[in-house]
Amino acid sequence: MSSPQMQLATPHFLLGHLPYFNSDPLGFLSECGASGRDVMTLRMAHKTLFLLREPEDVARVLVTEHHQFIKPAWLRTASISRLLGDGIVTSEGEIWRGQHNAYLPAFEVSRMPEYGDIISSLTAETMESWTSGAAIDVQMEMTQLTLKVIGRLLFSSLTPKSDWPEEIACDLNILLVHFSSRYRVYGMAPFPPSLAEMRAAKSLNASICRLICHYRETRPDPSSNTDKGTQPLLPMMPGYSLSDTGVRNTSFLSDQVKTIVAAGSESSSVAVSWALILLAQHPEISCKLFAELDTVLGARAPNLADLFYLPFTRAVVNETVRLFPPLWMTGREAIHACVIGNTKIPAGGQIMTSQWLIHRLPGYFPNPDAFRPERWLNMDPRDIPKGAYFPFGAGPRVCMGKNFALMETSLILASICRKYRPELASQDPIVPWATVTLRPPLGVKLILHAR
Ligand code: HEM
Repeated sequence: MSSPQMQLATPHFLLGHLPYFNSDPLGFLSECGASGRDVMTLRMAHKTLFLLREPEDVARVLVTEHHQFIKPAWLRTASISRLLGDGIVTSEGEIWRGQHNAYLPAFEVSRMPEYGDIISSLTAETMESWTSGAAIDVQMEMTQLTLKVIGRLLFSSLTPKSDWPEEIACDLNILLVHFSSRYRVYGMAPFPPSLAEMRAAKSLNASICRLICHYRETRPDPSSNTDKGTQPLLPMMPGYSLSDTGVRNTSFLSDQVKTIVAAGSESSSVAVSWALILLAQHPEISCKLFAELDTVLGARAPNLADLFYLPFTRAVVNETVRLFPPLWMTGREAIHACVIGNTKIPAGGQIMTSQWLIHRLPGYFPNPDAFRPERWLNMDPRDIPKGAYFPFGAGPRVCMGKNFALMETSLILASICRKYRPELASQDPIVPWATVTLRPPLGVKLILHAR
């Protein structure tokens, strides 16, 4: 794809491109996108990263030649594992396959209507605490809501009546702040964790363990004939039955749960938060959305079946995760030496693909920086060349919760916008915060006006 070439800033003699990436990761990636080179060889202090810019190379690494690439070493750093635990996101080989197969039943299409009802009712419950004209901390509210949703998937309704979503949301915030300040470049600067980070990690583990214990204490008799349709995910998880029979395996199970809690709540909450912010910034687009919701839903809450009749709502979600992909970088490690484009990658070479960079290439998305949900009305994400649009990743390691997440974000958005018009509480520019996810900056407030 031809585009005007731009020179990258000269690398620092000692730190290479690290200072540029550290001070403005998204700006740096955009410059890499404009450089016109297929594969950028970036020096980050003593480490080398190969950044892909061509969608077909992304598709090769994630899909067609996926068996030549594994999850990268930096994903196994202590900082990431404090956040995610050692679960399915980081595992490889037979361990990954076991986890993947164990979770598959939870994401079966037949379960989606039931999940849709859960999402709508938990969103309605959250909205009960809102008053028209009052400001909400959008990311915090959405994190708590998506935590409640993932909590319901994992434990059905067997969660304690405590403030666990708020506690976990606060711990996640602290861990993300620490991650982004010290680990901007994945694993490049392995400083010891701060006291606050260790406290948050401990508290997150304790909250997860409490949820597991509460489930065990209050679950119905396992021998009773429970309806498969309402079976929560926890008993299907690797490690559950081992600890059930008394083997001390709690940390293994709690890591699996922590991964699903973090993967299943964080990205969805980020997607809905950005969608609401973008709608607040674009009142003309909000009006189109309101018109669709009013026509299709009237005064009732949405369910899964409604989504088929809400193409503009789905387009808002597709466009939001294009512009602000909750996971903005995806990494892989080459098992063997290979050549991508004209660049030789050694065995063990660290390869990065960036949704932020590729989703904004003008060849695939005209006027790429503009928020234009309309572009999706006559376009199916599946029609886009492979590797050019991958908010959920691609290949065998594609997001397991992709369909669930698309439903979740659309239903939450539809439920909120059916009732409220979002407005930003401040006119300050909203600069995305590139931590593990691409979050809105901490504390962005939205005023919700009853419609
Ligand atoms: C808008 C919301 C979401 C986005 C944008 C998103 C994005 C992603 C991406 C890009 C990956 C692949 C990472 C890689 O290739 O290295 C991934 C993996 C994963 N996601 Fe999501 N995700 C979302 C929501 C969810 C939800 C709601 C769940 C669970 C309920 C979930 C569960 C997972 C799991 C289990 C994996 C690991 C899959 C594997 O390695 O086999 N995600 N997600």
